[in-house]
Amino acid sequence: MRTKVAIIGAGPAGLLLGRLLERQGIDTVIIERRSPDYVLGRIRAGVLEQGTVELLEKADVSERMHAEGLVHDGIELCFDGDKHRINFRELIGRTVMVYGQTEVTRDLMHAREVSGAQTIYEAEDVSLHDFDSDSPKVRFVKDGVAQEIACDFIAGCDGYHGVSRSSVPDGALKTFERVYPFGWLGILVDRPPVAEELIYAHHERGFALCSMRSPTRSRYYVQVSADEKVEDWSDERFWDELRRRVDQETADHLVIGPSIEKSIAPLRSFVAEPLRFGRLFLAGDAAHIVPPTGAKGLNLAASDVGCLAEALVEYYGEKSSAGIDHYSQRVLGRVWKAERFSWWMTSILHTFPDTDTFARRLQRAEFDYLVSSDAAARSLAENYTGLPF
Ligand code: APR
Ligand code: PHB
Repeated sequence: MRTKVAIIGAGPAGLLLGRLLERQGIDTVIIERRSPDYVLGRIRAGVLEQGTVELLEKADVSERMHAEGLVHDGIELCFDGDKHRINFRELIGRTVMVYGQTEVTRDLMHAREVSGAQTIYEAEDVSLHDFDSDSPKVRFVKDGVAQEIACDFIAGCDGYHGVSRSSVPDGALKTFERVYPFGWLGILVDRPPVAEELIYAHHERGFALCSMRSPTRSRYYVQVSADEKVEDWSDERFWDELRRRVDQETADHLVIGPSIEKSIAPLRSFVAEPLRFGRLFLAGDAAHIVPPTGAKGLNLAASDVGCLAEALVEYYGEKSSAGIDHYSQRVLGRVWKAERFSWWMTSILHTFPDTDTFARRLQRAEFDYLVSSDAAARSLAENYTGLPF
């Protein structure tokens, strides 16, 4: 088998890259370890920056998003029960789109199926070869049969635990990491959201977030310690804890119901450098992780593959390697700014074990500054709605 670009991983990064390349006549094969149902079963965040929305439009997979997605003009920030709205539209004339990552993935999978581009699901023992030469190869086992794909380039879009980053030779990669001493316990519930916009809340008992997937489906989170077990959290316990952490009005209006999904996600910041090794590129979660505060994960994956697609189109169309040569540097500049923002939002909104009272007063001062200064609010707004690509 032969293709121009072998893409490892059918998450949003791999599927969007495949779609952007297909629109420019560049053929790809996606090799995915799991089944389509498994990929669609993962519950992830659901806030799209304007740049991500534009990229999905460019990829011609935006119809359902525009019909069903919810445009949000701002968010609510709450600190020990004091709630304040940050109005993005008023501050900087930008908005975000609330549309679940699962739905973005579903739309991309559907478009790929219709186009007939090849995706090999349930590929086992995927391995990457010769990406330091002009003829890289990907090997895997499908239905018990060993196969090989020869290609011009490999795009490693296989997430944090994928094979791509770990295929890079020792010493060629530098990594930067911060692990937070807590996680997010999240539930999904078929009940209307408590408010029209997202509410990010700081409370001395810990962070809480009221989010949504649609006018009838809500997503809520509470900060829990890193060693917490999901089995110890009944729905009742979850709702009680959430109520205590948000403002009174929100607590009074919560529409509770049985959870249809409940899980704990650890929080981590991680960046690998560089993102290119010969003819292998890393993109999305394979390259970097952000804590979910600020919802940058999917948006970074989208902007990475937007850049990579441009670079590969330039390579094939204009026979120029300038784009691929600059890919790593260009992407990392934006990645580190999103890392900074996600770390900062995490720092002001969470409760840290063993923090002193001085640090808590600083968190309060940060909140008071944010809600009283247009300059500070504008900075949050421009980062939340997305820095330029
Ligand atoms: N071989 C083939 N596929 C693999 C392998 C492997 N060895 N390892 C992992 N994969 C697949 C996974 O099964 C998954 O479907 O790669 C895909 C990676 O998808 P994601 O983890 O969703 O990562 P990405 O596409 O970069 O999207 C980033 O996902 O984690 C969130 O916050 C993140 O929203 C962001 C988005
Ligand atoms: C979500 O809806 O899952 C969500 C929203 C915003 C975040 C993180 C997660 O910052």
